[in-house]
Amino acid sequence: MTADPEILFEQVSKTFGRGGGEFEAIYDLSFAIGRGELVAILGKTGCGKSTTLNLISGLIRPSRGRVRVQGHDPYADFTRYRGKIGIVFQNDRLMPWRTAIENVALGLELNKVPRQKRLEIAASWLQRLGLSGHENNYPHALSGGMRQRVSIARAFAGEPDILLCDEPFSALDEHTGNALRDEFRALLRQTGATSIFITHSIDEALSLGERLMVLGRPAHIAYEATIGVDMSETEREAVRGRIRRVLAGDAAEQPA
Ligand SMILES: Nc1ncnc2c1ncn2[C@@H]1O[C@H](COP(=O)(O)OP(=O)(O)O)[C@@H](O)[C@H]1O
Ligand SMILES: [Mg+2]
Repeated sequence: MTADPEILFEQVSKTFGRGGGEFEAIYDLSFAIGRGELVAILGKTGCGKSTTLNLISGLIRPSRGRVRVQGHDPYADFTRYRGKIGIVFQNDRLMPWRTAIENVALGLELNKVPRQKRLEIAASWLQRLGLSGHENNYPHALSGGMRQRVSIARAFAGEPDILLCDEPFSALDEHTGNALRDEFRALLRQTGATSIFITHSIDEALSLGERLMVLGRPAHIAYEATIGVDMSETEREAVRGRIRRVLAGDAAEQPA
């Protein structure tokens, strides 16, 4: 890791006002992610994963502690990050009145890339995601898997420094999700962007991340592991078992 982390959380807590009281979604969360790292964040539904991403993208600010992205405060300096952060959501969030290629080109348009250039870039990303011939289709004419491919193309097309992926395959059927997961990992490796991949699936986390952070509830680091490419199946199984116990222990402490 470089001296200057790309993403830094220092004792971050986030509370939401709820039912007249305070609800703690994140408690004392600290971590540092270096440039180019690919990190999987794993945790059960409701443990604060999306809230963590929202803090990184500067949509919300912490109640306590410090968040820094490329050395700056993403909430206070929100506009600084335009085009630098790409996000893939669980649902594609495409604009229904724009064609596939226009959806992919949207970020480039906001970044003032000239029209011809942005259509070229968008077309090449659609091609890389296997959607040649569907450039001019509207989202309603595409399957769920294809729509998610368009939203992935949109995130990559802007060549962001940071890619945030919030359970992007969890709304797809297993077969479609598996096919896309492998391609997606290859693309992530090629771009070299700092990437955070959020998931509630242990297998998905193990297959995608090099570094794995397991969050307890409210969000804090409950367990961390590094997954080496040369890791044996026995070692993998040990990590898997440990994660299961960590997640189960969390459930025992905090019944839903
Ligand atoms: N804006 C909000 N107002 C109130 N509660 C919120 C808000 N956003 C998230 N929460 C609560 O914080 C907890 C964590 O939410 P979230 O980060 O979406 O979890 P995850 O993505 O891990 O499923 C949940 O209990 C959720 O209801
Ligand atoms: Mg979520």
